[in-house]
Amino acid sequence: SLSAVFSEDLHSSLYFVNASLQEVVFASTTGTLVPCPAAGIPPVTLRWYLATGEEIYDVPGIRHVHPNGTLQIFPCPPSSFSTLIHDNTYYCTAENPSGKIRSQDVHIKAVLREPYTVRVEDQKTMRGNVAVFKCIIPSSVEAYITVISWEKDTVSLVS
Ligand SMILES: *[C@@H]1O[C@H](CO)[C@@H](O)[C@H](O)[C@H]1NC(C)=O
Ligand SMILES: *[C@@H]1O[C@H](CO)[C@@H](O)[C@H](O)[C@H]1NC(C)=O
Repeated sequence: SLSAVFSEDLHSSLYFVNASLQEVVFASTTGTLVPCPAAGIPPVTLRWYLATGEEIYDVPGIRHVHPNGTLQIFPCPPSSFSTLIHDNTYYCTAENPSGKIRSQDVHIKAVLREPYTVRVEDQKTMRGNVAVFKCIIPSSVEAYITVISWEKDTVSLVS
């Protein structure tokens, strides 16, 4: 949905830049930059909030809102991972003399880069029946893992 709010003065407006931005998932080791999805003419004041309505504050080396309205989450080691900052729902507002608009909620989620292993369990079946093998992935990383191949004795299996 692309919508704009025009005031009586047609030289000013407020609009959404990227209404489809609902989720930002990134590796905690790289950090991320999220531009405010709202904008306007004349220049707007952009502010970021938590979904709870709390205006966010800069946390040195961890979270910063640039003057251009881009929210930055810096790379972070697992020891400084905080759900409040690194896995939370935010929104941004744009305000100018023609009014104020609020972006939709954007879930910002850092994924911890941690070593993981996948495994497969033995299966028993009757001769002539089907055996189903499942790749078992730790649940903490399951959402981000794609199984790309199966191997038998180090040789890739082809469908
Ligand atoms: C809008 O957000 C989506 C999802 O993050 C992104 O893939 C796309 O590049 C963005 N489009 C623009 C114009 O910024
Ligand atoms: C906003 O400023 C930051 C820091 O200077 C920069 O990295 C980012 O690309 C800028 N974003 C936009 C949308 O101009």
